[in-house]
Amino acid sequence: MKNVLITGGAGFIGSNYVRLALQTHLDWNVVVFDKLTYAGNPDNLTDIAKDFKGRYSFVRGDIADREAVFGAVQDNNIDIIINFAADTHVDRSLMEPGAFITTDVYGTFVLLEAAKEFKVSRYHQISTDEVYGDIDEPNRSREEDRLHGSSPYSASKAGGDLMCLAYFRSFNVPVTITRGTNNIGPYQYPEKVVPVFVTNAIDNLPLPMYGDGRQMRDYQYVLDHCEGIDVVVNKGVPGEVYNVGSGVETRNIDVAHAILGLLGKPHSLIQPITDRPGHDRRYAIDNSKVRALGWTPSHTFAQAIEKTVKWYVDNEWWWRKIKTGEYLDYYRKQYAGREVSAK
Ligand code: NAD
Ligand code: DAU
Repeated sequence: MKNVLITGGAGFIGSNYVRLALQTHLDWNVVVFDKLTYAGNPDNLTDIAKDFKGRYSFVRGDIADREAVFGAVQDNNIDIIINFAADTHVDRSLMEPGAFITTDVYGTFVLLEAAKEFKVSRYHQISTDEVYGDIDEPNRSREEDRLHGSSPYSASKAGGDLMCLAYFRSFNVPVTITRGTNNIGPYQYPEKVVPVFVTNAIDNLPLPMYGDGRQMRDYQYVLDHCEGIDVVVNKGVPGEVYNVGSGVETRNIDVAHAILGLLGKPHSLIQPITDRPGHDRRYAIDNSKVRALGWTPSHTFAQAIEKTVKWYVDNEWWWRKIKTGEYLDYYRKQYAGREVSAK
């Protein structure tokens, strides 16, 4: 059996990955290590705790806490560390950058120290295409491109990536990194654009569209991303970075139209608002390196958005209780007074 520490496993992508890993790796024991911030949600793991009793356990802890991390790695005799834990929302990083530096840079350093001390066989870092900054058409970001983060979030993630590569070069820690594009699918906290738009549209509330809505992102289905991560964890070469994404970009305005079309709601729900400061115009990646390991995405954008919308329609129990209290305070702070008239 292999003992695998999955940090940030109570979040959106982490919980989807934990489910996939336990289904596909029958020789894995998984320990989820998570601080349970506002984005960490035990509901994301309820079925896993039931279905995989015996091969799954949970530790509440902070990746920036050396004692807690070292204790979890030592006590569970960990062979592999996969780090999903991060502060992840660009807009929150513009409001409170400090937490991003603590978790995404310092927390990564603490995990790397544990990987080095306990000689794990693999340390895998979940990173993002945002570290490249935006890129003009028709170019695509490649793994060797320079890092050029535009927000405190992407700069912190870039710092984490550089620390991982330094621990490979200086200390031979067997590190791999994946840089994923925008994920959509089940259990995404309703602060990211797709769950904000879908849950607002269900309730006939405005869809807040930043700027002209022509920014482009590579929206991939979360399970495609998880499969790409898994291929790299198992077949990737230490010291290497792999982009993971569909390779197809969609404008935000077209995402909104697709959601409203699927829900049968009027396009008049789209509410233009003032833009995000430093807003990256276009992300686009070259995914040929991960494809060469045998990975290929299974969902088109149309399939991914349809499955995603259906999940939110079918799982109001999950998101309605989130959209209360702290969330409403955040929403007001983030969006109040930004409305502009449509052109
Ligand atoms: P999320 O915000 O849904 O979840 C983050 C998880 O990390 C939560 O469970 C939270 O409790 C936990 N966490 C935060 N700080 C922690 C700390 N100090 N110690 C321990 N746990 C902590 O995030 P997500 O969208 O699932 O993203 C997961 C990873 O994937 C992140 O590293 C993110 O940068 C990366 N990523 C995300 C996307 C995307 O589209 N969401 C795309 C590419 C890469
Ligand atoms: O590219 C990968 C990254 O994708 C991940 O590393 C991040 O963790 C994840 O948050 C995401 O970052 P983005 O900033 O691209 O995602 P977000 O959902 O916040 O925004 C997507 C696009 O939609 C972006 O162009 C801004 C726009 N937007 C966003 C929100 C929240 C809106 O128009 N309205 C909104 O209300």
